[in-house]
Amino acid sequence: MGVVSTRSYDRRAAVSLFSRLRTAKGQADPFPVYAELTARGGVSPAPWGGSLVTDFDVCDQILRSREWLEPDARWREQQGAGTRWNAPSSREMGKTLPALNPPEHTRVRRAAGGIDRTTIQQLGRTVETETDRLLDTLIEQLREGEADFAALVSEELPVATVGHWLELPAADWPRLRELTHEQVFTQELLPSATQLARSDAATAELRSYFVELVRDRRARPGEDPVSRWIQTWDAIEPDRAEADEQVYLLALFVVLAALETTSTLLTTMALRLVEHPDRWRLLGTCPDLVPAFVEESLRYDPPTHVISRVASRDVVLGGVEIRRDEMVHLMVAAAHRDPARHSEPDRFDPLRKSAHLAFSGGIHYCLGAPLARLEAQTLLRRLVQRLPRLTLVRPPAWAPRVAFRRPLNLDVTFA
Ligand code: HEM
Repeated sequence: MGVVSTRSYDRRAAVSLFSRLRTAKGQADPFPVYAELTARGGVSPAPWGGSLVTDFDVCDQILRSREWLEPDARWREQQGAGTRWNAPSSREMGKTLPALNPPEHTRVRRAAGGIDRTTIQQLGRTVETETDRLLDTLIEQLREGEADFAALVSEELPVATVGHWLELPAADWPRLRELTHEQVFTQELLPSATQLARSDAATAELRSYFVELVRDRRARPGEDPVSRWIQTWDAIEPDRAEADEQVYLLALFVVLAALETTSTLLTTMALRLVEHPDRWRLLGTCPDLVPAFVEESLRYDPPTHVISRVASRDVVLGGVEIRRDEMVHLMVAAAHRDPARHSEPDRFDPLRKSAHLAFSGGIHYCLGAPLARLEAQTLLRRLVQRLPRLTLVRPPAWAPRVAFRRPLNLDVTFA
């Protein structure tokens, strides 16, 4: 009885913390709220049921453990017909790689393959060319006064990189980017009915686009990843319609996963650079620090703040009872500031040995991490090589999100 009443009290307290997270102030800087959450204990009740985890080591263990599962199609169906988990967009996401559990996950992940060193080397040249092209535009605009780095650079580089990699026509890139921003709501923590409807519409349009793409590549195969995925699936799946469906799901998810997250990283990383003149100077004199600067940006404010799992059996986690099929939200951005893991966690320090969960962990570790790192490191290197110091004109505005961070602008000028 005592446990139940304490938990309902904690839930009420968590409601008030979460309502602060959803204000403009909370979006711009959610970290004071996370600190209060952490002060309640590494595992605490979520306002809407389930639990929130802010302890770094517990998040890390859950991601690596086979006892914690993704909310897969079976779990989504169990939540009931009228719930957000059964919106068409959520059901579609339930079929994609990050929502699968073993053994299906093992089979699909193997078929996807990795992004190997040769691919990264080949894409490296494209990323450099695209980066320079975008920085030319930025410089031109800066000569007139201020420029929005997010719109001119961060939003453009990921779609150009993935567009070249998958050989998607450049004319399609702006629409694909727009659709990925619309689609993300179904993956948010608490989407509203309106947001879910927008996500459903975006998902339907993306389905048509990628189904058509698979059909095209089957008719005219090339050397691109989509053509290779078709070959791989034909070898392991006798039903051709099912093989095509699997290739569609992979192409869809890769584009969804690659665009917004990487754009957010590029903007937050540039924000860290322009907000303190010392940092620009540091990278100018020590370019070898570029990779560490990117990793510290991923720790300090990762693009994905929340990763969710469900319990495969009843467990006690950090003193909190969690029932089978109950959801835990790993508040990874809060965990990155866990003082038990990093000293002075609120200080951005590219010289520290930065451990983070920005790309998740265990079997679902981000497949595109080498590509995201390639883009971020190339951009940072070229920025400090090519431009005199930039400075922030005004603090960025943030989209009203909790799980998927999205800075809407980054207005900069020559210092
Ligand atoms: C800074 C950029 C990125 C961030 C922060 C990020 C983050 C993540 C996270 C947190 C997960 C795991 C979700 C979970 O454990 O449930 C994930 C999975 C995944 N990501 Fe990324 N991602 C980024 C860029 C990319 C890119 C560029 C691609 C593709 C080229 C990509 C493709 C994927 C795929 C396919 C998965 C599913 C892996 C699986 O479930 O086995 N990501 N990503």
